[in-house]
Amino acid sequence: MIKIFSILKEKMKENQLIKQLNNALSWELRAIHLYSHYSAYVQGIHRLQLSGHFTTEATESIGHANIVRSAIVKLGGVATTERNIHPIVHTLDFLEMLKHAYETEKLAATIYGEILNALDHYDDRELYDSIETIYFAELRSVEEVRMLLN
Ligand SMILES: [Fe+2]
Repeated sequence: MIKIFSILKEKMKENQLIKQLNNALSWELRAIHLYSHYSAYVQGIHRLQLSGHFTTEATESIGHANIVRSAIVKLGGVATTERNIHPIVHTLDFLEMLKHAYETEKLAATIYGEILNALDHYDDRELYDSIETIYFAELRSVEEVRMLLN
């Protein structure tokens, strides 16, 4: 009986983790759209730098999405195909673009930080390391955009 309870508890923990990973994946899918959109629309002299920067961020988001999706597959879950519904604001103002990028990166860092906390109680080093790598990349992006906005 106790064994059944512990199996159920493990399963619930795993489902919760899959849910968190799917939330992260939905934000990565949104980030791909956000950055691709801003890369296409950024104008003026800043286009020289920012168009490439946004494209790099979109590519990074594809990479993160791939890692998170693979983790969900490994856990036996169904990966979401939908982007997070949080609106992507259309603008031609590069500062506004950067502010939306900053918000997105901060949120991503928080989400991956929470997943890492959950993975502390999970015996999978490979999964922990892959999420930690993304987490550090998000932290670097937050700092990078914060500097751009200063
Ligand atoms: Fe990311």
